[in-house]
Amino acid sequence: MRRILVANPKGGSGKSTLAVHLASWFARNDEIVYLGDMDRQLSSRYWLEARPAHLATIRHWDVSDEAFTAPPKNCSIAILDTPAGLHGKRLKHVLNEVDKVVVPVSPSRFDMLATSDFFEELANTKAVRKERVDIGIVGMRVDQRTHAYQQLREFLEQFDLPVITCISQSQRYLQAADTGITLFDNDASHTAVDSQWRPLLDWLVTRQ
Ligand SMILES: Nc1ncnc2c1ncn2[C@@H]1O[C@H](COP(=O)(O)OP(=O)(O)OP(=O)(O)O)[C@@H](O)[C@H]1O
Ligand SMILES: [Mg+2]
Repeated sequence: MRRILVANPKGGSGKSTLAVHLASWFARNDEIVYLGDMDRQLSSRYWLEARPAHLATIRHWDVSDEAFTAPPKNCSIAILDTPAGLHGKRLKHVLNEVDKVVVPVSPSRFDMLATSDFFEELANTKAVRKERVDIGIVGMRVDQRTHAYQQLREFLEQFDLPVITCISQSQRYLQAADTGITLFDNDASHTAVDSQWRPLLDWLVTRQ
């Protein structure tokens, strides 16, 4: 089983968008996917309820914010969406339960600054120090050819963290949030998004 945490304490950074898209991609590739939502806003949970039944199955993984319940035995991919502001004990706790952490970061100066403390905290966590978990950054709503992307890279260099890929700004991510249908569920858009998502998908299935 692979266990993936999507986290960034900054609200609106793209955690739920990444979580539901990863879930649907793996589900389309015949994995048994469980999606958990630690956020009281229950974005992923409601998204899952809105998802049409004929699409590739994503199962609900029941995680309350008080206790962490392991994913069911038949699970092959567990994806955990997390709330803004996740830090301290709760962060440490979930880091012990996962293999990979995906951190969406927007290239806005405010967002980058808001993420600094989080990266420091991650770096000082035992699971990360002992290399039990891998951390990968996803530039969110950014194009790799832009100055904004260069700034994001320079910012991340100080933490020695890899930018796995960048996902560009698109209305289709907003639609996906409303409909329960991701860009991967739609064959027409599949190829177009593939080059942006592929490095992340490959990184997630690589063993440490
Ligand atoms: N690449 C993108 N292009 C366009 N819109 C996007 C993109 N990524 C995310 N969004 C939109 O930005 C908003 C915030 O994204 P999302 O809800 O995924 O962030 P979040 O980190 O989960 O927020 P919160 O901290 O509140 O849980 C949503 O409306 C989402 O549809
Ligand atoms: Mg969210």
